Amino acid sequence: MRYLTIALSKGRLTELSIDLLENAGVDCTELKEKSRKLILTDEKNKIRFFLAKPADVPTYVEYGAADIGIVGKDTLLEEGRDLYEVLNLKFAACKMCVAGPRELEGKMDSMTITRVATKYPEIAKEYFRYKRRESVEIIKLSGSIELAPLVGLSEVIVDLVETGKTLKENGLVVLDTIADISARLIVNRVSMKMESQRINHLILKLREQIE
Ligand code: PRP
Repeated sequence: MRYLTIALSKGRLTELSIDLLENAGVDCTELKEKSRKLILTDEKNKIRFFLAKPADVPTYVEYGAADIGIVGKDTLLEEGRDLYEVLNLKFAACKMCVAGPRELEGKMDSMTITRVATKYPEIAKEYFRYKRRESVEIIKLSGSIELAPLVGLSEVIVDLVETGKTLKENGLVVLDTIADISARLIVNRVSMKMESQRINHLILKLREQIE
């Protein structure tokens, strides 16, 4: 039997992904050991894992270098990869929002926005250019997106809002919600056919944990 390969997202999804897999009967002992090994295995279930930057997880899955992946819906929307999204894992729930200074509340439709700062240029482009038909300049930042409207880099931002604390502490508000975000289970299209029995079994076990 060949190994099933699972790509996990490094960062805030890691621990929650491991907990979920463990509760679904996957042996995560080696995965939980803090080592520098890049590929970890569950010999009993013939599963191997690796951790990757979230944005790279859909890439590994699309190319079949991983059969399965766990990644945020934000990354899936941004990367637009060709794969199956098979299960909403429900954890790490937040919203992708347009946010800006309180003065702009209720004025999104009447004002002209010229610049939007974000870590998610594709999501911002889709929303502003195609949904709202506005020709805005999208400025890509790597983090602390909330800074942009505070220092005059952009009028608004597109970013994740979880508790809303970061916005509130900086005098910003949600102007519109673009999408509900949470962790998702993704599967390579060929693996879904070739390994359907094992993958469906895992999906079933994971679904039991969520419901
Ligand atoms: C995320 C996101 C917001 C913040 C939202 O940033 O980009 O800044 O969390 O959370 P809240 O609504 O609970 O305040 P992250 O901590 O990942 O860091 P980053 O700003 O460097 O992306």
